[in-house]
Amino acid sequence: MLAVPGSNPRFIEKARGLEVDAFFLDLEDAVAPLEKDGARGNVVAALNEGGWGGRVRTVRVNDLTTEWTYRDVIAVVEGAGAELDCLVLPKVTGADQVRWLDVLLTQIERANGLEVGRIGVEAQIEDARGLVNVDAIAAASPRLESLVYGPADFMASINMKTLVVGEQPPGYDTGDAYHYVLMRILMAARANGLQAIDGPYLQIRDVDAFRRSAGRTAALGFDGKWVLHPGQVDAANEVYAPDQDDYDHAELILDAYEHATTVRRRGAVMLGDEMLDEASRKMALVVAGKGRAAGM
Ligand code: GLV
Ligand code: MG
Repeated sequence: MLAVPGSNPRFIEKARGLEVDAFFLDLEDAVAPLEKDGARGNVVAALNEGGWGGRVRTVRVNDLTTEWTYRDVIAVVEGAGAELDCLVLPKVTGADQVRWLDVLLTQIERANGLEVGRIGVEAQIEDARGLVNVDAIAAASPRLESLVYGPADFMASINMKTLVVGEQPPGYDTGDAYHYVLMRILMAARANGLQAIDGPYLQIRDVDAFRRSAGRTAALGFDGKWVLHPGQVDAANEVYAPDQDDYDHAELILDAYEHATTVRRRGAVMLGDEMLDEASRKMALVVAGKGRAAGM
């Protein structure tokens, strides 16, 4: 998921050529207060101009503590609702905020002859209240598609004593300082059939560090990650896809188990030294599914 500042037409143009699954045109933290109004116009124009291929077209509006949110939503959806797939709502602290956006979207869709309910919502979890309420947030609306971890705001919100987003805070050497946060978001997402997306890694020139940071959430089961720079795109696509050996093995398990259950009518079989049962099939389906989605 590529982040693109809505105030920068040059970056918006560049984004059209990148191999990403999705992008968001930002009206929030990458846009200065005095540029918010102009950025809305750029975003509407960019969506209506098209040329986005099959990418999921998303806009991040400002959070609900600002004076900008309602105008962001109205401007973007009235201006380009038919060319928009999803809105990202940042700094979500409770289910009421998602429901507010759901209701506003429904009104705008009705008033403008748009299909009601088509535009989805992604909720960013990026402070302590958002995390404490994440289960209710994840169940707040059928429009929800993803929960997105916002590491920078989250680290600030809990007063973490560090300046490097995505890295372990200096002085903490007893495990992963983010494990609880990531797992909580992942559980809420999976329990409600949503995607779990990791947020940005801000040291954009250090692709190896990006890869390590992404690798941790990919290993847990996250579906993808934000990228801030073209140099992070290939690494993200690789890290969230299975490696070739795992993908091939997963397809082999699926074939072997299909044969075992249908032809031999057995629920548990051996594949080499490995015992397979229905749960093995489910695990293989996850890995194969990620590989197929990545075109392997
Ligand atoms: C993203 O919005 C973040 O705060 O990390
Ligand atoms: Mg943020």
